[in-house]
Amino acid sequence: MDDNFGIIGQSPSIQQILLTIKQVAPTDISVLIMGESGTGKELVAQAIHAQSRRKDNPLVVVNCGAIPEGIIESELFGHEKGAFTGAIGARKGYFELADTGTIFLDEIGEMPLATQVKLLRVLENKDFMRVGGVRVHHVDVRVIAATNKDLEKAVKTGEFRDDLYYRLNAFHVRISPLRERREDIQLLVRKISSEFCKQNHIEFDGFTDSALRMIENHTWPGNVRELKNLVESIIVLEKGKKVDELALDKYVKFDNNVGRNLPVPTHRSSEQVEREFIYRALLDLKSEITQLREDLYQSNYSDSRPKSLPVYSEVLPREPEIVKNNENSQEFNLDESSLEDVERYKINRALERLNGSKRKAAKSLGISERTLYRKIKEYELPF
Ligand SMILES: Nc1ncnc2c1ncn2[C@@H]1O[C@H](COP(=O)(O)OP(=O)(O)OP(=O)(O)O)[C@@H](O)[C@H]1O
Ligand SMILES: [Mg+2]
Repeated sequence: MDDNFGIIGQSPSIQQILLTIKQVAPTDISVLIMGESGTGKELVAQAIHAQSRRKDNPLVVVNCGAIPEGIIESELFGHEKGAFTGAIGARKGYFELADTGTIFLDEIGEMPLATQVKLLRVLENKDFMRVGGVRVHHVDVRVIAATNKDLEKAVKTGEFRDDLYYRLNAFHVRISPLRERREDIQLLVRKISSEFCKQNHIEFDGFTDSALRMIENHTWPGNVRELKNLVESIIVLEKGKKVDELALDKYVKFDNNVGRNLPVPTHRSSEQVEREFIYRALLDLKSEITQLREDLYQSNYSDSRPKSLPVYSEVLPREPEIVKNNENSQEFNLDESSLEDVERYKINRALERLNGSKRKAAKSLGISERTLYRKIKEYELPF
C-alpha cells in the first residue's frame, strides 16, 4: 500500500481530501464522509483508520441500510439475555466489538430516528446501554459515518435528527463525483489496470488515445466503482489486445449508462466469493426471520390477526380490552374515570401481567419504552 492508502487522484479535490485525512486521522474527532455511490467513501474511512493511533485495533464496518430496523439497536449496542423473544443469551453489539478501535457507520442516513438518539449519546458521553439492559457501558470508539444522501434535506423532512447532523457534520469530507474531476480518470485507469494485471498475471496492451478520451468524457454515474468494473472486465475479456473505440463500445453505451450493468469480475479467490455469498444469504435469512417475528407481533395486536398463530399470544398475552367490556368495573367505572385513570390502570395491569418487563409491557400497550418509563414516573407506579 502506498502513502495514500490506495486513494488515487491528482485533482485538487482529491489532494485536499488526502491532506484532510492526514490532519484528522491522528485525532479522535468523528468524521462524516459524503459522496455519491462509488466515490470512495469506504476507502477514505479505511485510510483514516489506517493512519490513526487505532490502526492495530478493530475497524468495524456497519452498513446501517442493510440491517432491518427491528434489530438495528441490538446489533449496534448489543442486548441482554431475555431482552426480546429469541434473545437466549447476552450479546455484544458492534460498538463493544469496536472498543479501542473505529466504527464505520455506512449509510448513516438510513438509521432510524430512535437509534439516532442512542448514537448521539455515544458520541457525546461515550456510553450506552444494551437493549434490555440497565448497566451503562463505556467504550473508546472513534466514529466515522458515511452517506450518499443529502442529510441536510433529510433534517428538513424530519428523517434525520438535526442535533446528530450538526454533531457529525462538524468535521466532514465531501468527495466529488468523478465527472467533476475528470483529470483523475486517466490516472485511475492506469493504476487500476496495472494493479489488476499484476495481481492476476495478465498481459494487457492498454487503450488507444481515442478510447481513453471516450472514457474521460463519460459521465460515470457509478463513479470510480463503475470505472474500475469496466477496466477490469475489459482486461479479462480483451487480454493482450489494445482496446480502441470500437472495442470499448461493446462494453459501455457511452452517455446512456449501460456500463453500470456490466458483470463484475473480482480478483478474489472462489473461497472468498463463496464465503461472502453464504454470509449474504445468512443475513437475508436473519432479516426475513426478524420481519416474520415483527409480522407475528403485529398480527397478534391487531384485530384481524390470523387465528392460527397461538404461539406468540402465549409468550405475550394480549392486553384485555377493558375499555370495551366492563368486566373490571369493580375496580373503576369507565364512565366516571378520567383518561388518566384508564391509562394508569392499563399500564399497571400490563406491568403486573408481564412481571414488570418494561419492554414487553411497552410492546403490549403499543407505546415506546421511552413513553412507558415517563408514564411510570408520572403515575408513580411501583415498577
Ligand atoms: N480515489 C480512488 N482511488 C482508487 N480507488 C478508488 C477510489 N475511489 C473509489 N475507489 C474504488 O472504487 C470502489 C468503490 O469505492 P467505495 O466502496 O469506497 O465507494 P463508496 O463511496 O463507499 O460507495 P457506496 O456509496 O456505493 O458504498 C472500491 O473498489 C474502491 O477501492
Ligand atoms: Mg460504501
